[in-house]
Amino acid sequence: MTSPTDLTRLATDIAREAGELARRRRGEGVRIAATKSALADIVTAADREVEALIRGRLAQERPRDGFFGEESGAEQGSSGITWVVDPIDGTVNYAYGIPSYAVSIAAVEGEPDPTRWRALAAVVFAPALGELFQASAGEGAWLGTGPDAQLLAVRAHAPEAGGLIATGFGYDPATHAGDLARLTRVMPLARDIRRIGSAALDLSYVAAGRLDGYFERGLHPWDHAAGALIVEEAGGRVGGLPGGRPGNDLTIAAGPDLFVALEAAIAARD
Ligand code: IPD
Repeated sequence: MTSPTDLTRLATDIAREAGELARRRRGEGVRIAATKSALADIVTAADREVEALIRGRLAQERPRDGFFGEESGAEQGSSGITWVVDPIDGTVNYAYGIPSYAVSIAAVEGEPDPTRWRALAAVVFAPALGELFQASAGEGAWLGTGPDAQLLAVRAHAPEAGGLIATGFGYDPATHAGDLARLTRVMPLARDIRRIGSAALDLSYVAAGRLDGYFERGLHPWDHAAGALIVEEAGGRVGGLPGGRPGNDLTIAAGPDLFVALEAAIAARD
């Protein structure tokens, strides 16, 4: 039986290799390979190449595990463990030369469905920022690895000043009115709002206490699989619609007090 820590160690090695490839390709210039759900929803040639590298390395090291990636789809395994991968989370930042993009790799146990799985290991690596966030179930969340790694903890909520809260807007223009209405309901809880452009980094920043909270509608499993475990291991809560798990309908992450307030504010109309 492999421990969550072993899985995180493997994910860390692969994420570093994949992130360096993404960074190198960025320096050589970005080629948009296709659009997906909407014209604004792009995939670069690097997204595909980086996912192929991650998939190939995992197949070599863990041939019995399943795979569920943003660009190359899903394949069932026989070990009960599935790797959930976003090769470049923050693709639009990547295409525009904004350094807030990250390789996100999670290992989950059980059905490869975010409403059912149990996350075991998580790595979010932002190569252009030189930061790696990682967590193993039951072992805490960390910035970096080895003896210099820093233990992460969510920020204690100070309701008087309001929270620094991040959000995102899906690529489909039809959903923007709803996103903005939700944001209006959250504003009374906020000291200010951030739109970083990478859900994996939004979640990692909640874990690191750089943000008080984060919410977004329309995320895919690979956007939040790793970041959600990192938040939980840093003492935060992650959920979706009231009482539910994070998912496409809604993802909320924050320290325990702000989480309850965010959930209530968002649910007031949803
Ligand atoms: C996107 C980013 C973005 C979020 C979108 C995601 P991608 O992932 O996480 O912050 O607002 O909903 O799809 O497309 O860059 O992998």
